[in-house]
Amino acid sequence: MKADLVVNRENIISEVDPRLYGSFIEHLGRAVYSGIYEPGHETANEDGFRQDVIDLVNELNVPLVRYPGGNFVSGFNWEDSIGPKEDRPTRLDLAWRTVETNEVGLHEFMNWAQQADTEVNMAVNLGTRGVDAARNLLEYSNHPGGTYWSDLRKENGAEEPFGIKTWCLGNEMDGPWQIGAKTADEYGRLATETAKAMKLVDDSIELVLCGSSSSKMPTFGEWEYTVLDHAYDYVDYLSLHMYWGNQEEDLENYLAKSIEMDEFIKGVVAICDAVKAKNGSDKTINLSFDEWNVWYHSNKADDEMEPWQIAPPLLEDIYNFEDALLVGCLLITLLKNADRVKIACLAQLVNVIAPIMTIENGEAWKQPIFYPFMQVSNYGRGNVLTPSVESETYASKDFSEVPYVETIAVHNEEADEVVVFAVNRSKEESVNFTTTLNGFTLESIVESTELAGYDIKLTNEQDHDGIKLADNNDFEINGNELVGELKPLSWNTIRIS
Ligand code: AHR
Repeated sequence: MKADLVVNRENIISEVDPRLYGSFIEHLGRAVYSGIYEPGHETANEDGFRQDVIDLVNELNVPLVRYPGGNFVSGFNWEDSIGPKEDRPTRLDLAWRTVETNEVGLHEFMNWAQQADTEVNMAVNLGTRGVDAARNLLEYSNHPGGTYWSDLRKENGAEEPFGIKTWCLGNEMDGPWQIGAKTADEYGRLATETAKAMKLVDDSIELVLCGSSSSKMPTFGEWEYTVLDHAYDYVDYLSLHMYWGNQEEDLENYLAKSIEMDEFIKGVVAICDAVKAKNGSDKTINLSFDEWNVWYHSNKADDEMEPWQIAPPLLEDIYNFEDALLVGCLLITLLKNADRVKIACLAQLVNVIAPIMTIENGEAWKQPIFYPFMQVSNYGRGNVLTPSVESETYASKDFSEVPYVETIAVHNEEADEVVVFAVNRSKEESVNFTTTLNGFTLESIVESTELAGYDIKLTNEQDHDGIKLADNNDFEINGNELVGELKPLSWNTIRIS
């Protein structure tokens, strides 16, 4: 089989906002306790954070981490998580039916984020709380001093404001499972008033309004239109959430599910622009895909979990090779939409549906999905080039025209590099793949790697190095063309200078 990608140096979709490579830590399962934080661990630093986990987060080069939830935030009192640890209350977390000790709270997490070299995307509780708690948290976090909340922050050890720039106005407020779920009108009004107050406290922040919990929600579309109609003038982004799985054991259909992500994004963009046109606004609302990933492997185990434990192993999906291929396709889809998707958060980062797993008192290891995320996050920086792709297609259960090759190229001017990412979805056939790079003088291949040749169900659970990147020496440069072979079922990254 053959496939071609043609790009032109000047034909750009958009510069990538680095926040496209965000992730997410929720007070859920072992994400925090025995994930990022394990004071007794041999790599723990003086603050109790596992250095081995920080090192892996650094490898992923994550610029933004959403916190503290997720469903958790909708029942969370942020004030429980500040002040002397011994005075902090232990609470029931109704979202996950666990017990939260608040041993890691706001200051500890801000400290971890600094050590992990990442910014925080803070969510406020619009489930059980509202305007007052949100504006107080913002004053506590970002106001320099001389007021009740900002001085309390100083008393609690942080002389300088945290300076949190990106804020989420609640979480999945359309979901019946959400504590304090709301109708679109109820949420739209509350989000508007909360946003208004928050921007009065600090007008340099950016606010993310909750969109639907997935495109499958019965209120999808109407929800987006209504909440935006209320809050348009006060917010900057609308959120999207979606998880995928191969419950049906249908590989061809599973690998095509990035098409669903693309359709979801395009649909939400259309709604944002419809509200803009209707309101005659000159402001454009961009998107924050602030929860995306594969999530289904752990569902059964989670259903059987005993309630009211501290940090039980919840949502510990063990990913396999086919998941890594889908995550590659999803990353390429986010890049293709980089003109409107400015923020995205891989949900989540450690232990909970995560690329990084930890063993209590033991190693931290990389799931197969770690690799495509790491490569796109590190090398997919700069200008996304508009792709013109020719690839044979196939039909699957839910999709009529699935290209065998999913691909994109990114030009990083600073590094003087073009990077091509490509997935071959074919089970049987390798693809002779030609990328024509118009306007570039190509000198050498800096690095060419692949994930290929693995059983689709192989995981890294037993052998933590079972699935890992391998060099692919097959690619070569011919004039302004890059030519080589994409193996069947493969994830490929080729960096050219
Ligand atoms: O990421 C896991 C959960 O998925 C989040 O808490 C929630 O927002 C979503 O339903």
